[in-house]
Amino acid sequence: MTIYIKSYNKRFLSIIKGENFSEFNIDFLKKDNKPQIVLKNVNTIYEGERYPTLYDINLEINQGEFIFIIGPNGSGKTTLLETILGILPLERGIVEIDGKSVIRNGSKIRKRIGYIIQGLEFDPQTPFLVKTAAMVARSGRNGLLKRNKKGDKAIAKLCLDVLRNKQETEDYWDRPIGKLSGGMQQKVMFANALAAEPDILLLDEPFANLDINSRDNIFKLLVKLNRIAKTTIICVSHETMIPKEVTRLIMVQKGRIILDEKRDLAINSEVFRAYTNFMANY
Ligand SMILES: Nc1ncnc2c1ncn2[C@@H]1O[C@H](COP(=O)(O)OP(=O)(O)OP(=O)(O)O)[C@@H](O)[C@H]1O
Ligand SMILES: [Mg+2]
Repeated sequence: MTIYIKSYNKRFLSIIKGENFSEFNIDFLKKDNKPQIVLKNVNTIYEGERYPTLYDINLEINQGEFIFIIGPNGSGKTTLLETILGILPLERGIVEIDGKSVIRNGSKIRKRIGYIIQGLEFDPQTPFLVKTAAMVARSGRNGLLKRNKKGDKAIAKLCLDVLRNKQETEDYWDRPIGKLSGGMQQKVMFANALAAEPDILLLDEPFANLDINSRDNIFKLLVKLNRIAKTTIICVSHETMIPKEVTRLIMVQKGRIILDEKRDLAINSEVFRAYTNFMANY
């Protein structure tokens, strides 16, 4: 039986389904090409703190970019992602997505963003089942009044299928998420983010818990979503080997952006070399 899935992005869904997408015209970006994400003179300050954590952040990010954010522990990478999400207070500056302030239009804008939280692990006693956890973002995107339970379940299952093998999905679907291994929980969180067919993916060290095969498979999927569905991907990583599919590298240090360049220029820069040396001797 074929289940109807209401799609927010047909290319995205077809990639998840593993369909052949060669018929698509990949070059479909609008010519005016206004930046999708804009941060202007932003200082982010945590509640109760005297000084900002991020200083003077200026960024313009276009739809379809694939960005790695690097930098030492505590430099402000997670804070930067959560500033883009609009969930942290600003001391000054503006953050806009498609021309709209994320502070004022946060909940509407966040429906279109998939966020993988750093190091999220569920307590073994967490009562949620895998199937519930995998559908949270999709249900949020639909809104309370527009449920399509069968379709939502079908896409959440498809998303989990592409991240693991089908038999595993069947085995784990009705189990409490807290009883899964850390890597499996991470895949459920990926499935949850993907099931909402987001326009933007914010990924905070998403590969940390994953074995090498899972990493490769998920990275390949991200590349397809980026190239064909033009999903913007912003990924925090501690890797010093920056994959060639990444288009841009941003480095944060002590709350400031100290490098923001196209990937090939960035990896040949002095700043990046100093960073990789520092990491190697850490
Ligand atoms: N809720 C908070 N309240 C106050 N300070 C915070 C809060 N969360 C983070 N910080 C501080 O902000 C700074 C940047 O933290 P952030 O988590 O953004 O770093 P990061 O680059 O993501 O580090 P890591 O590589 O360890 O994940 C750190 O000094 C941290 O202690
Ligand atoms: Mg972090």
